[in-house]
Amino acid sequence: MSPSLPRSLLVVGSGGREHVLVRSLLASPARPRVICAPGNAGIAGEVPCFPVPADNIAGLVALAQSERVDFVIVGPEVPLSLGLVDELSRLGIPAYGPKADGARLEASKIFTKQILLKYGIPTAAAGIFSEVAPALAYLRARSAPIVVKADGLAAGKGVVVAQTLAEAEEAVRAMIEGGRFGASGRQILIEDCLFGDETSILVVVSGRDYVILPTSQDHKRIGDGDTGPNTGGMGTYSPAPVVTPELLDLIEHEIVRPSVEAIATEGIDFRGTLFVGIMLTPAGPSVIEYNARFGDPETQVVLPRLETDLLALLWAAATGTLAGFALKVRPEHSLCVVIAARGYPDAFPKGDPIKIPASLPPGVTVYHAGTAHDAEGRTVTAGGRVLGVTAIAPSLREAADRAYAACDQIGCASKYFRRDIGARQLDRP
Ligand code: AMP
Ligand code: GLY
Repeated sequence: MSPSLPRSLLVVGSGGREHVLVRSLLASPARPRVICAPGNAGIAGEVPCFPVPADNIAGLVALAQSERVDFVIVGPEVPLSLGLVDELSRLGIPAYGPKADGARLEASKIFTKQILLKYGIPTAAAGIFSEVAPALAYLRARSAPIVVKADGLAAGKGVVVAQTLAEAEEAVRAMIEGGRFGASGRQILIEDCLFGDETSILVVVSGRDYVILPTSQDHKRIGDGDTGPNTGGMGTYSPAPVVTPELLDLIEHEIVRPSVEAIATEGIDFRGTLFVGIMLTPAGPSVIEYNARFGDPETQVVLPRLETDLLALLWAAATGTLAGFALKVRPEHSLCVVIAARGYPDAFPKGDPIKIPASLPPGVTVYHAGTAHDAEGRTVTAGGRVLGVTAIAPSLREAADRAYAACDQIGCASKYFRRDIGARQLDRP
């Protein structure tokens, strides 16, 4: 244990990602004090939570000061793009997560596409438009399926994978003219459709240094068999065997290293998680997106597999001492099933009581996401994605069996979850 590790931490956010961050940081041999804002019912059971929303930058800064925090770990993208880390750094409070310039890699798909193209990093061909007529002309010169994306943050809903040109035209009009995504939709990207398995590579970055975290695979659609609308993520597992060591090597050389170099060359001092969304196409891996934060629910399966002290890793990234950092990973498999409120990602009920049995199958941890305490102190649903039921086991099959056994034991009238998390991998020869 390094005597120079921080002693008092603030974790910002309220999802399953923040719950696993809190857990992993509490497990540090440095035994830090951890607080969270705003947190959720599960996090509040472990550390003090303060009711400051993640988009209240002044409130979070004031909290960090009044609680004499010496390290802030930022979970979600919104405070990053609103400049929380810029403010903290002005006050000399170290933080994990990029400043607003780095968060733009997630907040603007056009900014990212321009960097990818400028540095020759593999990505789908695309056109950038702010007016309908040239966008439609471009569409007509391509073929369906084709992808239409709003430029800005749209909580995962700003992407339409159009199966027909008519559908693409409708998306173009809705985004540019209809104000469907507000200011974030006025500029759009029209991008060729990529085919293949999708994987997320999480990279802890500090300037030109980086550490690649264990691989994982998300399930973004709401329904079994990858059907229905996109969500924030319905389940994950790690490792993702589809990313073989050879493929990871290729991804590092063609995508990760050039991305880290490109970002630094653009003058961005990125200290945080670069989440690279990749499509494994027959022609090779291709970047779909960058996010500037840990994935949710990727983090729920990746962090439990780290033997390395997470606090030491994040602190090294934040303080520019990441070079040569060696990561230790447990060989076990982990799998997370997201329990959502029925109706998500559209309208869903809130306030539904949740009963989690005291005794769960071995290796199972239930991370809270959209949960709260009601007036009677009961734990109730308070968001679309409610829980992340995560199991760690010697094999993916056992991890899936344990996680699903726990899902069936959890009581909640509106619970909904996919039955096939990991199934494609388990069925793969
Ligand atoms: P994004 O918000 O950029 O992560 O996009 C959401 C989802 O849309 C991705 O996870 C993919 O499943 C899909 N998607 C985005 N871009 C493409 C593309 N060029 N080709 C095929 N699918 C895509
Ligand atoms: N699970 C996808 C994301 O965090 O964006």
